[in-house]
Amino acid sequence: MWRYLLLSMFLFVNVNTHYLYKTKWFEVPLDHFGLGRKETFKIKYLENEDYWNKNEYGPIFFYTGNEGQIEAFANYTGFMWEIAAEYQAKIVFAEHRYYGESKPFGNKSLEKEYIGYLTSAQALADYADLINYLQNNEIKPRYPVIAFGGSYGGMLAAYIRIKYPHLVAGSIAASAPIHMFPGMTKCDLFNRIVTASFKRNLYCSENIQKSWHLIRSYSSSVNGSEYLHKTLNLCGASNATDINSLIEYLESAYVTLAMVNYPFASSFLTPLPAQPVAVVCQYLNQNLANESLLEGIAKVIDVYANYGKKTKQCVDYKEGDNYQNLDAGGWDFQACTEMVMPVCSTGQNDMFEASPWNFTKFSEDCYKKYNVYPRENMARLEYGGDLLQAASNIVFSYGLLDPWTAGGFISSVSDSVDVILIADAAHHLDLMPSSPDDQSPVKDAREKHKQHISKWIDSFRARNKHVVT
Ligand SMILES: *[C@@H]1O[C@H](CO)[C@@H](O)[C@H](O)[C@H]1NC(C)=O
Ligand SMILES: *[C@@H]1O[C@H](CO)[C@@H](O)[C@H](O)[C@H]1NC(C)=O
Ligand SMILES: *[C@@H]1O[C@H](CO)[C@@H](O)[C@H](O)[C@H]1NC(C)=O
Ligand SMILES: *[C@@H]1O[C@H](CO)[C@@H](O)[C@H](O)[C@H]1NC(C)=O
Ligand SMILES: *[C@@H]1O[C@H](CO)[C@@H](O)[C@H](O)[C@H]1NC(C)=O
Ligand SMILES: *[C@@H]1O[C@H](CO)[C@@H](O)[C@H](O)[C@H]1NC(C)=O
Repeated sequence: MWRYLLLSMFLFVNVNTHYLYKTKWFEVPLDHFGLGRKETFKIKYLENEDYWNKNEYGPIFFYTGNEGQIEAFANYTGFMWEIAAEYQAKIVFAEHRYYGESKPFGNKSLEKEYIGYLTSAQALADYADLINYLQNNEIKPRYPVIAFGGSYGGMLAAYIRIKYPHLVAGSIAASAPIHMFPGMTKCDLFNRIVTASFKRNLYCSENIQKSWHLIRSYSSSVNGSEYLHKTLNLCGASNATDINSLIEYLESAYVTLAMVNYPFASSFLTPLPAQPVAVVCQYLNQNLANESLLEGIAKVIDVYANYGKKTKQCVDYKEGDNYQNLDAGGWDFQACTEMVMPVCSTGQNDMFEASPWNFTKFSEDCYKKYNVYPRENMARLEYGGDLLQAASNIVFSYGLLDPWTAGGFISSVSDSVDVILIADAAHHLDLMPSSPDDQSPVKDAREKHKQHISKWIDSFRARNKHVVT
């Protein structure tokens, strides 16, 4: 009873995401590196100057957009909005090429023949051009630029400081899995962290672990498949369940629930209640078997697929999961080229079925889809992996509930490449809008971010005195 009350109270806590910005466009070369092509296209950026003290060279807070429409990041990166007044900062959110409306070839952009200019290096070069433009093309820039980003955006925030330190004074890189690349981390760690969040709730991970075998055995007969369709409210032909798609869908749902296990309700990736893992685990909180287990799983999927929707829809499990709110379709190509991040499960130390990392298979699938083979070591060679001793002015922050922390640092790299671990925090919670339910670890992390930002701005100004005064 108490548990139920507590959960339903959380459901009413939401966060303010009504931030105001102007939408602008900036022209960039299709190809920054080969000099043979002359085509250009426009990327979108969102801008707010309400708090900016331009006359006294207030800073520019620059979000290095990641795999999704930029409005989603603008809406949920409350931290930048909440501290902008204090720093008298201008706020810019830049959209990553090939996502949202920043598509060089319109709706054909993700097709094989057009997708090849989707790389992190091209995106960083777009941002470098945009920052230069925001500095009025000055040889000695006046406004200190602080980069922010979460997840892949966090990697980009770090990488832009590494590659373009003359343009960016410092970077807050939240939940950036910068050593998730081959050979750098154990591939099962990610799913062990997912499991740990479900394990905090009695019986939850055990029930999920038991469900795989049961779901497979039901799907193997026509009447079992019909039962699954009816109980789990699945879309499509009821007498033939596409079992691999269903398992993938469920796995992805559990991963997402763990990633966005925030103390407030949010629609960042997909609409979900506050504390979504605890919410779904209330349906699996006793030792279940057979049909009662499937009924429990059905309630879990219903929360994942239908939370906040006016009319319940069937679960479109074959659709795949590219996070409707983000529109992250291009990420699959990035994962198939330079962002190779091995993930596996053992079925022993995690609640998933055993699934080894098979690079050969992964490569073959990429070739079928995009006509490309992954370059397993490309990101490491381009950006240094975890060998960042020569980098400076970067903070890497990681939430200990976040599966992506599997690809993070656990201790500081140097005096100026700092690491902040945040207890009880999911995927870049520190960048999210503050909420009355925030606990001290995330509040402390935000305070430390501000100390770093102040320090970087001061040192930029000390170096640029001759320019600014
Ligand atoms: C961002 O917030 C605005 C205002 O609340 C809303 O209209 C829009 O749909 C949101 N966009 C995304 C992608 O979250
Ligand atoms: C792509 O865009 C063109 C032109 O805007 C439009 O006519 C066409 O229907 C679109 N195709 C798809 C698949 O959305
Ligand atoms: C399906 O039919 C078989 C044979 O009649 C029966 O043993 C089994 O229990 C049925 N399964 C379900 C899920 O109804
Ligand atoms: C499922 O039903 C459809 C139409 O009702 C039928 O054509 C198909 O053969 C059935 N599949 C199986 C595996 O029974
Ligand atoms: C679940 O089903 C199996 C096989 O039909 C049966 O042996 C077992 O007793 C059932 N377990 C429960 C808890 O009902
Ligand atoms: C990996 O995948 C390849 C290609 O699909 C397959 O031939 C090979 O047996 C797989 N290796 C393992 C260890 O499963």
